[in-house]
Amino acid sequence: MSEAILLVGGKGTRLRPLTSHTPKPLLEVAGVPFLTHQLRRAAAAGVTRIVLATSYLAELFEDEYGDGSELGLRLEYVTETEPLGTGGAIRNAAGRLTCGPDEPVLVFNGDILSGVDIAALREGHRAAGADVTLHLTRVEDPRAFGLVPTDDEGRVLAFLEKPETPEQIVTDQINAGCYVFTRAVIDRIPAGRVVSVERETFPELLVSGALVRGVVDDTYWRDLGTPAAFIEGSADLVLGAVDSPAVPGDTGEALVLPGASVGQGAVLCAGTVIGSDAVVEDGAVVEASVVLAGARIATGSVVRNSVVGRGARIGGHCTVDSAVIGDGADVAAGNELPPGLRIGCGVRLPAEGIRVSAGRTPCSELPRAVHV
Ligand code: GDD
Ligand code: MG
Repeated sequence: MSEAILLVGGKGTRLRPLTSHTPKPLLEVAGVPFLTHQLRRAAAAGVTRIVLATSYLAELFEDEYGDGSELGLRLEYVTETEPLGTGGAIRNAAGRLTCGPDEPVLVFNGDILSGVDIAALREGHRAAGADVTLHLTRVEDPRAFGLVPTDDEGRVLAFLEKPETPEQIVTDQINAGCYVFTRAVIDRIPAGRVVSVERETFPELLVSGALVRGVVDDTYWRDLGTPAAFIEGSADLVLGAVDSPAVPGDTGEALVLPGASVGQGAVLCAGTVIGSDAVVEDGAVVEASVVLAGARIATGSVVRNSVVGRGARIGGHCTVDSAVIGDGADVAAGNELPPGLRIGCGVRLPAEGIRVSAGRTPCSELPRAVHV
């Protein structure tokens, strides 16, 4: 028996409008909800029981996975009525763990695609007798992450979440969002209030002299929290640049799900996925993009590095680049969208083009389109 907690309560604000009706972990990546990749990878590493710490759109998780038996897992769901932050969520979920105080518990952020050897992380933690073990990775620009310098033996020296000044950028090693906690350490996190594991729990453990280890691993790693990363992560799975037992088909230039139709002379490449019942008409080009279920891309259009939401329509001879097109949106024929555009769910973009507005507006309030 090996247990884990998966943090899936975030609102996924950077992926709006896709996350207006679907929590980030349930958005489809390479043909299945993103979380399925994580759950199957955990199962393959010998994890048998996972507590999902939910908050935003909580009920949708149980609808999708039930008791987890299809994945060979036992799944439990714990919902925070008010989000408790990462540490509060871990503490809250711990009530459903069954292991003893000295046993290792894996904890995962719900938006990380990685090739890390989960079983080796857990066994290394056990062998070192650590309180917490953190999976670390190296990135070029660490500012959007938790910085984690370590000493020669891998002992964590500090934890600096999202540094704000250049002096704080002391390392390119970042928290990769996968931890092993000794169960008793989780039980000492304060209950019933908001706690950030990054800003509160880790710094306090370091001050108290706890053994916090960092394991730097340079295999594939990506946080899928932004549109560009989400699209790249999906393409990498389709291309086979990172392995997942959950990809529903052979890896290659494109993955076309059952029920989708692709017209003559259409080109699908660079890790594109075409969702079930989606239609790509004759001569359209779809490159490195995620086309969700039931969407339609009409003849002669070119779609690159974009997400096209469920049931959305792209009219003929459009150019769509680095865009996020919300569920059910309708882009009239002939539009050449400026790169980086987000179009709200159900928004109709007329043939004469877009009216660009400066602010960021939630999907539900979008008048027409927002340029970000
Ligand atoms: N249940 C619950 N409740 N889950 C939450 C809550 C909450 O209140 N807040 C966040 N989460 C979940 C999110 O759903 C996500 O899976 C995970 O916790 C991390 O939240 P993000 O919003 O994705 O954080 P981040 O990407 O800015 O930063 C985190 O991940 C980085 C690696 O990608 C931090 O852990 C950084 O230190 C780390 O480098
Ligand atoms: Mg994240």
